Amino acid sequence: MKLLDGKYLSSLLKEEIKKDVEQLVLDGGPVPHLAAILVGNDGASETYVASKIKSCAETGIRSTLIRLAETTSEAELLQKIEEVNQNKDIHGLIVQLPLPKHISEEKVTEAIHPAKDVDGFHPVNVGRLCIGMPSYVSATPSGIIDMLERYDIKTSGKHCVVIGRSNIVGTPVSILLSRNKTPGNCTVTLCHSKTPNIKEFTTQADILVVALGKPGFITADMVKSGAVVVDVGITRVMDPTKKSGFRISGDVNFEDVAPKCSYITPVPGGVGLMTIISLLKNTLKAAKKEIYQNN
Ligand code: GUN
Repeated sequence: MKLLDGKYLSSLLKEEIKKDVEQLVLDGGPVPHLAAILVGNDGASETYVASKIKSCAETGIRSTLIRLAETTSEAELLQKIEEVNQNKDIHGLIVQLPLPKHISEEKVTEAIHPAKDVDGFHPVNVGRLCIGMPSYVSATPSGIIDMLERYDIKTSGKHCVVIGRSNIVGTPVSILLSRNKTPGNCTVTLCHSKTPNIKEFTTQADILVVALGKPGFITADMVKSGAVVVDVGITRVMDPTKKSGFRISGDVNFEDVAPKCSYITPVPGGVGLMTIISLLKNTLKAAKKEIYQNN
């Protein structure tokens, strides 16, 4: 069994991004600039955004954090998004989710200009991904693809089983892995909450991607010997032995499953760390106008 080590790989990729940013500036290009909007004071969102800002600094990407109060109206937020859309100095924009209940995430996602949508959540980017056009791809799926590529894991002709059909992980991963590309060319089965007897499918998987948010759901009896297991789960579970009172748990029972796998991602230290890399890469692409020429 080998670990798909997100800690090692993300630090390697950060170095590569840093060099690319330096080269862009040497070539007379702009310093890539990411704006992040954070509404309210959700604890997990604060942590995620702080980590995104720190990673920008480490790679030479400029960032601007726009903090808005929990009570900000939907109209005010949409107005702020429009300001950033119009600001030529800013290449990428993310609005950290979840948003307060009174704000429609759908409206906010659609309000971000597709050319600045470095989260890859806008319907235009999702649509472009589906028909194989250049697009921003959301962070977790593209982090998984990077991981498979960098560890030289063969995907062509393999059976990939994805558990979970969310817009930001399960669905795009299933599309990416079935595309006629490398990594890709998998036969993909997408399982979800209405799939009866999930084990019947998971035991057939050469590559198993688990993104359902149920700690420890996948056990050894559900996995084929030699499978590649990618665990996307990051759930906080109570743990009185920890200073914080909780620990982060994946969807895979790691101790049970790991001995059976050819490769497996740990949690924490696996896919999670790769997601920020994707955001940095997309911001760099935005500054280079790689996907859209007129942003
Ligand atoms: N909340 C949890 N993950 C994400 C993400 O990738 N992007 C944004 N904007 N919000 C999130």
